[in-house]
Amino acid sequence: MRTIFREGAVVKLIDQTRLPGELVLFECTRAVDLAEAITSMRIRGAPALGVAGAYGVALAAEEALPVVSAFLASVRATAELLRATRPTAVNLGWGIDQALDLVGGSDGHDAVTIREKLWALADRLAEADIEINQRIGVNGAGLIPDGANILTHCNTGALAAVDWGTALGVIRRAAGEGKRLQVFVDETRPFLQGSRLTAWELQQAGIPYTVITDSMAGHFMARGEIDLCIVGADRIAACGDVANKIGTYSVAVLAQAHRLPFYVAAPTSTIDLRIETGAEIPIEERSPDEVLSLAGVRIAPAGASARHPAFDITPARLVTGIITEFGIARPPYEESLAAAVASAR
Ligand code: MRU
Repeated sequence: MRTIFREGAVVKLIDQTRLPGELVLFECTRAVDLAEAITSMRIRGAPALGVAGAYGVALAAEEALPVVSAFLASVRATAELLRATRPTAVNLGWGIDQALDLVGGSDGHDAVTIREKLWALADRLAEADIEINQRIGVNGAGLIPDGANILTHCNTGALAAVDWGTALGVIRRAAGEGKRLQVFVDETRPFLQGSRLTAWELQQAGIPYTVITDSMAGHFMARGEIDLCIVGADRIAACGDVANKIGTYSVAVLAQAHRLPFYVAAPTSTIDLRIETGAEIPIEERSPDEVLSLAGVRIAPAGASARHPAFDITPARLVTGIITEFGIARPPYEESLAAAVASAR
């Protein structure tokens, strides 16, 4: 399964708002289509957004081509529109910046050549994402004992990347090594990435799982039914603070209270050394309607108000280890994360 790919100048992605009911593709021929797909979460998950960002700049170049004199300015302006769609996952900006660096370094090349280079770059990032995810899986699988009961939050699988996944990729790899596992899948209110997407992926992979509501995690931990937690990340600060799907912080606090390991799995493109702590990470506030309604059905009284921060910050002190494609970063994270990022350069 591939979450995002292109055919010619058409970017195709699995429409995740339609899962688990239907597996359908959404086609983007213009950057604005992709921007809409990101905002409405047809495509989501930090690594997938990184690749989508690069494809979005290629689409921008495709559209800008007819007016060669304004080509570069037009591509850059559209890139900024794409960047603004979702602020928390640093990967989106990372993918866009890879593309803009290519544009910036293309002085003297004609617009057609730059456009072709942008498509090729996005294709390369997509391929690299799959390989990086598989390396994260290999590095993390050793942390998972045979017979483990694992709690995960949100969706960090193939759907959140180009393929394979980060935290779910670790679980996938451990299962592939023959370990017997049971995955507790937080449903992940309000967008239900857990019950809609993670459960769907685990079912396809034949890995045993149980969906629980987010509020049940402490109950199962207290009863000794969970051995470890593993989640993904949308942005990791230099100190090791982790931004991830809303509810992740609660899981980490519960894990510490029950002396359970709490692991984060993420590519080095999710580490943002420009910021020191999680307090500097922008937290996306989505529409309160996504909290007040469920599957299109209103579940609160008319006139009710709601808040919808889409992410929260888990402080580094609650994180047992961060699994990257270069190994497992351990505290002190200032040193281990800087080393991981240096390995990627
Ligand atoms: O709002 P989403 O669904 O894009 O949030 C996704 C998450 O929080 C994931 O845990 C994170 O992006 C890691 S995906 C490998």
